[in-house]
Amino acid sequence: MTASDTWCAEAVGRLEADFNRSADTHLFRLELPGIPDIELYFKDESTHPTRSLKHRLARSLFLYAICNGWVREGMTVIEASSGSTAVSEAYFARFLGLPFIAVMPKSTSPEKIDAIEFYGGRCHFVESSGEIYAASQRLAEQTGGHYMDQFTYAERATDWRGNNNIAQSIFQQMASETHPVPRWIVVSAGTGGTAATIGRYLRYQRHATRLCVADPENSVFYDNYMQGRADITCQAGSNVEGIGRPRCEPSFLPGVVDQMIKVPDAASFAAMRVLAERVDHLPGGSTGTNLYAALQVIRDLRQEGLAGSVVTLLCDPGERYRETYYNDAWLADRGFDIAPYRAQIDRFLDSGDWVPIE
Ligand SMILES: Cc1ncc(COP(=O)(O)O)c(C=O)c1O
Repeated sequence: MTASDTWCAEAVGRLEADFNRSADTHLFRLELPGIPDIELYFKDESTHPTRSLKHRLARSLFLYAICNGWVREGMTVIEASSGSTAVSEAYFARFLGLPFIAVMPKSTSPEKIDAIEFYGGRCHFVESSGEIYAASQRLAEQTGGHYMDQFTYAERATDWRGNNNIAQSIFQQMASETHPVPRWIVVSAGTGGTAATIGRYLRYQRHATRLCVADPENSVFYDNYMQGRADITCQAGSNVEGIGRPRCEPSFLPGVVDQMIKVPDAASFAAMRVLAERVDHLPGGSTGTNLYAALQVIRDLRQEGLAGSVVTLLCDPGERYRETYYNDAWLADRGFDIAPYRAQIDRFLDSGDWVPIE
């Protein structure tokens, strides 16, 4: 065995050991007092060691890059990330003894920057989210390092047939519920990797479950999906960290998506706050986007007179957004009026009555 083979074998061993040490994330139910015939569940990905759904992806990306011979001993690893992925990759880079650089918009929350630096990562800032790709590629060339590129490889690095991916875990944890096969799974998209993994798994396992993807403002996934295109772009970056993109990312696979829902940012932040008051978990913004879309899916099921279950994701912890989404002055300064959406969501949860907001 050459030295690099030895390093590769040890690195894979350490990643597998981390997997073996980690327990799976929980699935919890949100009580719907006004909706007796439907159950809503959250897959709580904030309980991973690096506290977001990106822990799974980061481990898969490192295994994929090492087993492809792209990442070798002492090599600098670079990632273009709004934060969550970088936090998780910094964690894995550290215990593989690899320098790590995260390229992100300068608007990224200080909590995420601290978490990346806590794991020994270095942060490289760019003006807007559209610049992160080229800056990451340049840094990889300058350092002789490897650009992990979650946006391209998320859908490829994750094993969609099983191997304890997020979809397999959801179905295992739903097995003893009243409606073990959910009618819908609702997620949002940053890379699109989570949606791709779940959508493929549903088809591979021949489940009747359908996949709905929520899209925030300042993002082009919805428009591309609705128009069957992939070339629509926009300038502004998403206000909901981790989701929504100014271009249709390579890992977003419209072919596995059964429905998309556009969610106003004020609705995302309102739903996040309502959930925080009803469960003892502080969710992040993208969880609010997921919840608001899931409630519309539930409204439609009730209109069709169907009972059943719906599953969505709690993607990361709200502690990371204390200075932003949980700060009323921050919301007001940016014109996010969450009051009408809070009233709409509370009324629907407590009475099953969905009152549209004009
Ligand atoms: C907080 C949060 N939620 C949701 C997502 C979306 O996940 P994916 O990239 O798998 O589409 C991300 C992605 O970065 C995220 O950071």
